[in-house]
Amino acid sequence: MNMQEQIAAVEAELGAAVAPTPDAVEAFRIGMLGKNGKVTALLDAFKNVPPEEKRLWGQRLNQLKQAARSRWEELKAAAEAGPASADDAVDATRPVLTAHAGSLHPISIVRQRIINVFGHIGFTVSQGPEVEDDRHNFGALNFPPEHPARDMQDTFFVQGHGPSGAGDMALRTHTSSVQVRVMEAGQPPIRTISPGRVYRNEAISARAHCMFHQVEGLYVDKGVGFAELKGTLDYFTRSMFGPEVAIRMRPSYFPFTEPSAEVDMSCTICGGKGCTVCKHSGWVEIMGCGMVDPAVLANCGIDPGVYSGFAFGMGVERIAQLLYRVPDLRLYWENDVRFLEQFTDGAFRG
Ligand code: DAH
Repeated sequence: MNMQEQIAAVEAELGAAVAPTPDAVEAFRIGMLGKNGKVTALLDAFKNVPPEEKRLWGQRLNQLKQAARSRWEELKAAAEAGPASADDAVDATRPVLTAHAGSLHPISIVRQRIINVFGHIGFTVSQGPEVEDDRHNFGALNFPPEHPARDMQDTFFVQGHGPSGAGDMALRTHTSSVQVRVMEAGQPPIRTISPGRVYRNEAISARAHCMFHQVEGLYVDKGVGFAELKGTLDYFTRSMFGPEVAIRMRPSYFPFTEPSAEVDMSCTICGGKGCTVCKHSGWVEIMGCGMVDPAVLANCGIDPGVYSGFAFGMGVERIAQLLYRVPDLRLYWENDVRFLEQFTDGAFRG
């Protein structure tokens, strides 16, 4: 090894040295700076350096000696301070900068809770397109072409997208269209819910929007009756809103169910005593439902002589409004962070 290599080797050794106890520090000192130490040996070798190189190596060796001394002092100070404890390694009192992680949108939270509640009793999730043809949104669901119930749905038509040009396609007005797709795709037993966006040409206000979310439910099997429908919806509302809520059903009309009903839930805001949300009735409307009309089963290739079923449809914004007491539908889509960050999984944070 030439002088340069020897100096580099000793420097590396200085850097890597560990000496946790005073004895080890003393051994380090002797090994480097003692009478027979490595640094001392190099300093001794200086006398053999040719005169023209003396300036260069004199400087380098001085630096090495300084480095050995300061390393020794460092090790000595550390050994005297005693072994490092766990408390020194982690300062648990030090403030941290928390990154803002954002939060789920309230509609996403409620949609997922609905899926979970029905998932517990064996309902799968199915989906269909938002741009839908007339048959799936209306025809197969028993809305004949001139049926007045079509007008109630304020449909947005999509120009020029159907098989025969303009007017054939529309933004779906309800997720009942997915019922048709599921029944066309397979035979019972069918137990599924279909969450998704729906569109209606309505003026935007505190109580209406042109885009909102629904969850459709469909259960078709042998011997399914109205009692199963009521039991399922009772289970759903208790799981969602708490064991104390009650439901009631009122006769209603939908083209695709017979009989049909509107479902009310005892008002969670006032506990049934009467408030502005329930318009002092003690009840709030939460969904529509009924027994799938035999004609709809037949339209979708299911034998109504063998099978029967029930269906229901609810608005996700409505369920979220009752859970979180949101007074104005527009708040959901204005993307004001002060509104959005108040929601955590399942509960109002305040
Ligand atoms: N499709 C209806 C609507 O958008 C909701 C609905 C009512 C769905 C009754 C159903 C049902 O499946 O049985 O207003």
